[in-house]
Amino acid sequence: MSRLKLAVMISGRGSNLQALIDATSDPAFPAEIILVLSNRPGAKGLERAAKAGIPTHVIDHKEFADRATFDREMTAAMEAAGTELVCLAGFMRLLSDEFVDHWRDRMINIHPSLLPAFKGLEVQERVLARGARFAGCTVHYVRKEMDTGPIIVQAVVPVHPDDTPDSLAERVLAREHDIYPLAVRLIAEGRVTIDENDRAVIAGAVAQENTLLNPVG
Ligand code: GRF
Repeated sequence: MSRLKLAVMISGRGSNLQALIDATSDPAFPAEIILVLSNRPGAKGLERAAKAGIPTHVIDHKEFADRATFDREMTAAMEAAGTELVCLAGFMRLLSDEFVDHWRDRMINIHPSLLPAFKGLEVQERVLARGARFAGCTVHYVRKEMDTGPIIVQAVVPVHPDDTPDSLAERVLAREHDIYPLAVRLIAEGRVTIDENDRAVIAGAVAQENTLLNPVG
């Protein structure tokens, strides 16, 4: 079986990278990580990759005069490694249109909200400020506008009355670690297509029937 070749792009902690490392460590999983790319030399995720014996590459954005040159360097590194799917996992740089176009339908991202709600940063602060009763996370294909693009998998978690941004982020993060490997598997199994309305369609997918109600009194 030939496994889908993943490059994972990180900037920091790398807990989603770890979830992908753990999933792909099973030889039966239909994808493998061939490269971890970081724009920050000290990113903790680099240690996780090294520990798992995965090649790492640092391309420090500070050494580049402009975004386009930096992005081309990243593409060159990922292509040299034979990348088939790019997984953004806490990569904290904006991407040039050229880069997004180059990897169109071959690049996915994880975001800690139920998109299209709460795009951008400081998500859980804003979820709490708005009194939302549910939070969650989304894996989606990447399009030019930040945190848009065909949605592949989402997970929902309740907001608790005493949540802080950190406690909510932790609950969401646990589900991120489930849905990122799941989305990668669905793609690697060739089950995800993008329809004429730019929506992801998943062959053979089943939705859970639970209806959630929050709060209950
Ligand atoms: C996650 O919350 C992810 O949704 C967002 O950035 C964070 C990365 O965390 N895009 P980690 O580096 O994977 O631990």
